[in-house]
Amino acid sequence: MALRIGFASQKGGPGKSTDARGTAVGLAQNGWAVKIADFDLNQSTSALWNVRRMKRGHSPEISVEQFGGMAQALAKSGDYDAIIFDGAPRASKDTAAMAEACDLLVIPTGLSLDDLEPAVALADALHFKHAIPVERIAFALNQVGDSQAELDEAREYLAGKPYHVLDGHLPKKVSYSRAMDVGLSVIEVSHKGLRIQAEQLISAIIARATALQSK
Ligand SMILES: Nc1ncnc2c1ncn2[C@@H]1O[C@H](COP(=O)(O)OP(=O)(O)OP(=O)(O)O)[C@@H](O)[C@H]1O
Ligand SMILES: [Mg+2]
Repeated sequence: MALRIGFASQKGGPGKSTDARGTAVGLAQNGWAVKIADFDLNQSTSALWNVRRMKRGHSPEISVEQFGGMAQALAKSGDYDAIIFDGAPRASKDTAAMAEACDLLVIPTGLSLDDLEPAVALADALHFKHAIPVERIAFALNQVGDSQAELDEAREYLAGKPYHVLDGHLPKKVSYSRAMDVGLSVIEVSHKGLRIQAEQLISAIIARATALQSK
């Protein structure tokens, strides 16, 4: 069965599409046939990103398709080695269906309590209301500023919760958003240091998901 990784959040804009594209490219670089299922029907951001990617001829090739619901997306998953679910801007009842179908559900979050609290609230809802096992829910730190203290405190806060916290994080950098403007992902930026940082997070997502898939 295809590896299934989902990206979801309570708040809009924490980096679901950013992480989903990086994960898709990371798997594709290793020879996997990957589809991103874009659930952002109103903005179709990953579908449009892939149009930019194809226009510029970037490889590896990623397939992106928009879906209104999980059932349609899962019906297509047999044709791929991995399917990446790029969730709609805000969590809904479909988020639980996504989490139920996934080997790993990633919740990207910023470091402030305004970001962390809704991220944990979503994880709690998925675990306590929908019985998603804690080990299948993981937080990914994104939009990290230049304060080491803020990063340490965010990790400490999340360490007190039962969910997994992924190694690595994405600093807030214009290089990342500009790379996506030209159809690249965060692991394809030309700046080597930023590329390595992104690869740490994306590798952690892939390693965690593949380990859970075999369980
Ligand atoms: N680490 C980063 N550094 C700089 N810009 C970033 C970073 N991560 C994300 N962005 C930018 O922030 C915006 C939101 O990111 P993204 O689209 O990945 O979030 P999202 O959770 O998918 O949003 P939505 O809820 O609208 O689907 C985008 O413009 C993206 O380019
Ligand atoms: Mg998005």
